[in-house]
Amino acid sequence: MITFEDVHKSYGTHSVLKGIDATVGKGQVVCLIGPSGSGKSTMLRCVNGLETYQAGRITIGGATVDAQAADIHGIRARVAMVFQRFNLFPHRTALENVMEGPLYVLRQNRKDVRDRAAALLNSVGLGEKLDAYPHALSGGQQQRVAIARALAMQPQAILFDEPTSALDPEMVGEVLQVMRSLAEEHMTMLVVTHEIQFAREVADSVLFLDGGRIIEQGPAREVLHQPRHERTQDFLRRVTHPI
Ligand SMILES: Nc1ncnc2c1ncn2[C@@H]1O[C@H](COP(=O)(O)OP(=O)(O)OP(=O)(O)O)[C@@H](O)[C@H]1O
Ligand SMILES: [Mg+2]
Repeated sequence: MITFEDVHKSYGTHSVLKGIDATVGKGQVVCLIGPSGSGKSTMLRCVNGLETYQAGRITIGGATVDAQAADIHGIRARVAMVFQRFNLFPHRTALENVMEGPLYVLRQNRKDVRDRAAALLNSVGLGEKLDAYPHALSGGQQQRVAIARALAMQPQAILFDEPTSALDPEMVGEVLQVMRSLAEEHMTMLVVTHEIQFAREVADSVLFLDGGRIIEQGPAREVLHQPRHERTQDFLRRVTHPI
């Protein structure tokens, strides 16, 4: 569903992605881990055309992603992104936030959009909060609205960039639970996360990125339980035993 072929990206002279090769198969969950500054967000941003890359190729469902291409809106509609900060529209209710894309980008019928948005909010456990404004919702609830909003675009894949790292610890579980159900429904997902337990349980494969290169990739149980590279071992030690 998503492929990276020898992708290079730099900001000016600062090389950030140094030849990335990776694949996210249809219906797969791939977790992307790695230290701060290793290029994880940049990888995601290149997939949905928020950033350009200089060499190599990224494809989604066979179509090449080219941030300069005319079809960039089509690409953003096919691949949704969920950020660390929920980025909801503050002056719109939960329901209106979820309706926005289908209504104004996809130009779908208002009644259908409303019904589907309500059903999606219900499916993430927010059936009682349709008319709540973001400021009246907890961080975990806001992030679940953001996920419902991503799903409302009926994307082929969803990119998650540290979706739980801005949350209070007691709210992490409810968001991971929603992501777990999406995985069970075979949503294609590329997830930047430091939730190693989640990656262990849910990921089909794990990529470890360091210094703009994929140092190690493979089935979650191999990369997380028997990492071959010292840098992966070090990183995992640090995130699982932070002190
Ligand atoms: N817009 C930008 N202009 C210049 N440099 C940038 C820009 N965005 C990111 N960088 C640099 O690119 C590198 C990779 O950044 P990126 O945000 O992809 O890392 P990350 O792995 O997501 O880190 P974190 O875990 O802290 O979110 C960093 O050195 C960063 O300083
Ligand atoms: Mg990042």
